[in-house]
Amino acid sequence: MSQEALPEIVRKVEEAPLEDLLRVSMDEVQIQMDSYLDPEVDSASLYRRWEKQQWAVSDLDFSDDIRHWETISEGSREVMRRTMTLFFIGEQAVTDTLGPILHAAPHEDERVFLATQIADEARHTVFFHRFFDEVLQVHGGLRAALETVGPLATAGFRRIFETHLVDATDLVRREPDNRVAWVEAIVTYHLMIEGYLALAGQRNLLRYLRGVGLMPGFTTGFTAVARDESRHIGFGVLALRRRVHEDPEMGRVVALKVLALLEPIALTAVNPDSRLNLPDPSTIQPGLRQSPIELREFAIGSLARRLRSVGLSESAVEELAQGMRKIYERLWDRYEEIHGVEHPVRWYQRQGAAALA
Ligand SMILES: [Fe+2]
Ligand SMILES: [Fe+2]
Repeated sequence: MSQEALPEIVRKVEEAPLEDLLRVSMDEVQIQMDSYLDPEVDSASLYRRWEKQQWAVSDLDFSDDIRHWETISEGSREVMRRTMTLFFIGEQAVTDTLGPILHAAPHEDERVFLATQIADEARHTVFFHRFFDEVLQVHGGLRAALETVGPLATAGFRRIFETHLVDATDLVRREPDNRVAWVEAIVTYHLMIEGYLALAGQRNLLRYLRGVGLMPGFTTGFTAVARDESRHIGFGVLALRRRVHEDPEMGRVVALKVLALLEPIALTAVNPDSRLNLPDPSTIQPGLRQSPIELREFAIGSLARRLRSVGLSESAVEELAQGMRKIYERLWDRYEEIHGVEHPVRWYQRQGAAALA
């Protein structure tokens, strides 16, 4: 892609009204998200974007989605239901835990931005509520959604939210003047949960739905969610950069917290306990294949760019990235030990080796 094209793409994503978001790809959202790493972007300018990028859940049209859902095979429905339930859990959890971070934010502009984010997270929860109710025919909110997938499908995922996120934000609630606790909460919430886990899952699901051309209402709404998340992640990086600038020791706090979260985040992303119910990669159309290696490298690369933007040294960033790669390798091995079958990543690894030879 040429350099001149980038500002055009950023503008297109930023200014798209809700109905045009169906034609905005996740790669374009990503380019816009990376543009927020520019040190010129401050929380006031993120606030102004929030004012201009309002959208309403009630404006989404789910009528095609309702028809499409009927035509999808039960196997694919199961995978999608599970993924969407994870997002529903996530949105609810982040709506419930952002309050203490807002309350303890030392700067006025940070509190203003975080207030907009709470409104966004509430809207995202309402989006899933409506989608489950009208399209998936699961009535009764998150509790009913959880019942349809069973506790095992969401156990690892819930650990991240119910342990790591709740512990981090609860400490901020009890000790609002504890600066280290605030930084650690932003790392957990904005950098690792929103920026790593949620984004990777979002990209996966949106690419798949665009590839097969299904569920336009959901795709539109979820792209609007992703655009909101760009502002949140941009804010997280901005707030951490500011702390590191004020006190270089905070760089170490950020690095150590990221290091502590690598394993639980990778465990949730790979989820080795759960047997993958996917077709053999060789039978999938090339355009719809999702290589676990590409997904991993995308997620690690995005995290590395943000950590550099926060102000971590190149060697610290590289060490964290390498550590994360090794954890994935270990979890793929563990998957094979648990289930006694090859992990789909092996097929992609063989393709890569063959291409090199
Ligand atoms: Fe959200
Ligand atoms: Fe968010």
